[in-house]
Amino acid sequence: MLDVVVLVSGGGTNLQAIIDAVESGSITNTRITGVISNNKNAYALLRARDHGIANRCISPKDYASREEFNEKFIEAVDEWKPDLIVLAGFLVVIPPAMISKYRNRIINIHPSLIPSFCGTGFYGLKVHEAALSRGVKVVGATVHFVDEGTDTGPIILQKAVEVELDDTPEILQKRVMEQAEWKILPRAIDLIANGKVTVRAGKAIVSQ
Ligand code: GAR
Repeated sequence: MLDVVVLVSGGGTNLQAIIDAVESGSITNTRITGVISNNKNAYALLRARDHGIANRCISPKDYASREEFNEKFIEAVDEWKPDLIVLAGFLVVIPPAMISKYRNRIINIHPSLIPSFCGTGFYGLKVHEAALSRGVKVVGATVHFVDEGTDTGPIILQKAVEVELDDTPEILQKRVMEQAEWKILPRAIDLIANGKVTVRAGKAIVSQ
């Protein structure tokens, strides 16, 4: 059984997609042992509560220094003994000590086809604004392992989505979520839970 801790900051629609996939059996051999948000008002926390999943908020704002926060944050994650940590719209920088402790056991969903529109400053709606202002015709989403860089870790799954003529950043964001994110994030967790993902020479090898 793969024990998963999900980290969130906002609405939690990706968390919901994971919960639904676990409950419907499309993710197998997996249980969500806890949800952590850095934002006490995150709707994602209510989603966890509604499904009887342990949850808590831990915010950098409540600590005197980033070092102190990082230490407490790692302790909070460790308490739920995760086999896999899933960043589902989590907007806090992961402490380097957590990355090395959980090497190739932290995954992130990013709303673009990496290496386009990723890295520092590219998150949420900003990604879709940048894609529309560049005029690309195809966008998408990526699930990848988290390493010390920003959106640089081994890529596990990607899915493309077409841009349409009248798209606004909000409309495009919703289409990317519906057609890509909510599909590939649960799929990646199921693949990991069933031993189908390995990392070799810095690349994720997926046997489907
Ligand atoms: C999602 O679109 C996710 O891909 C993005 O934040 C949104 C969270 O939505 N993550 C990033 O931009 C990370 N760089 P949600 O809270 O409804 O799942």
